[in-house]
Amino acid sequence: MTKRVAIFLSGGGSNMRALVEDMAGDHPARPTLVLSNKASAGGINWAQERGIATEVVDHRPYGADRAGFEAEVAARIAPFEIDIICLAGFMRVLTAGFVMPWQGRMINIHPSLLPKYRGLNTHSRAIEAGEREAGCTVHEVTPELDDGPNLGQARVVVRPDDSPETLAARVLEQEHILYPMVLRRFAAGDTTPVHLP
Ligand code: GAR
Repeated sequence: MTKRVAIFLSGGGSNMRALVEDMAGDHPARPTLVLSNKASAGGINWAQERGIATEVVDHRPYGADRAGFEAEVAARIAPFEIDIICLAGFMRVLTAGFVMPWQGRMINIHPSLLPKYRGLNTHSRAIEAGEREAGCTVHEVTPELDDGPNLGQARVVVRPDDSPETLAARVLEQEHILYPMVLRRFAAGDTTPVHLP
C-alpha cells in the first residue's frame, strides 16, 4: 500500500522539494503533509502551490514547553494518517515523548558524516578540524540527537579553499540525491544503508 509521508522543515525546504518531486509514478510513497515551525519557511508556499496540505506550528509561544509544542504537532498530523515522517531541515530538537511512538517510522537528514559532527555548524567544524571529506547522512530518528541507524551517506571532498558556504552547497547537492534514494527504499521496507558515490 502506498505510504503517506509528512515532511517537517524550518527553512528553504530544498530537501523537501527533492523528496516531493521523487514521490511520483511507481514510488511507494506520496507526500501527504508539509509541516513547519515557521510560517515564513519558503517550502510552505511551494507545497501549497502543489496542492499538498500544510501545517504551521510556531514553537515560540511554547517557550521551554517542548512537550506542549510536540503535543500540538502530534494533534495537527493525526488527521492525516501519516506512515512516515521525514525531517528535512527541521531545526527543533524533538524529545523522546514525540520520537518514541515514531521510532522506525521517522527519518532525518543531517549535513555531516555521522557519527562525526552532530548538532549545528557541521561544515565549519569539519573544515576547522582539517577533514578531507565531508558529506551527509540519512538516519532513523531515535531520542538521542543525530543518532540512530544509518540509512545512507554521501561523501564530498573538502577542497583546500572551501568555506563553510561552498562546502555546504556541494553537500546539499548530494543531499538532494541521497534523501530521495533512501526514502524510496525505506518506504519499501529496505533499510540497507546506501553509500554515495
Ligand atoms: C540541510 O543541509 C539539512 O541537512 C540541514 O539543514 C539544511 C536544510 O536545507 N539539517 C540540519 O542541519 C538538521 N540538524 P533545506 O531546507 O534546503 O532542505
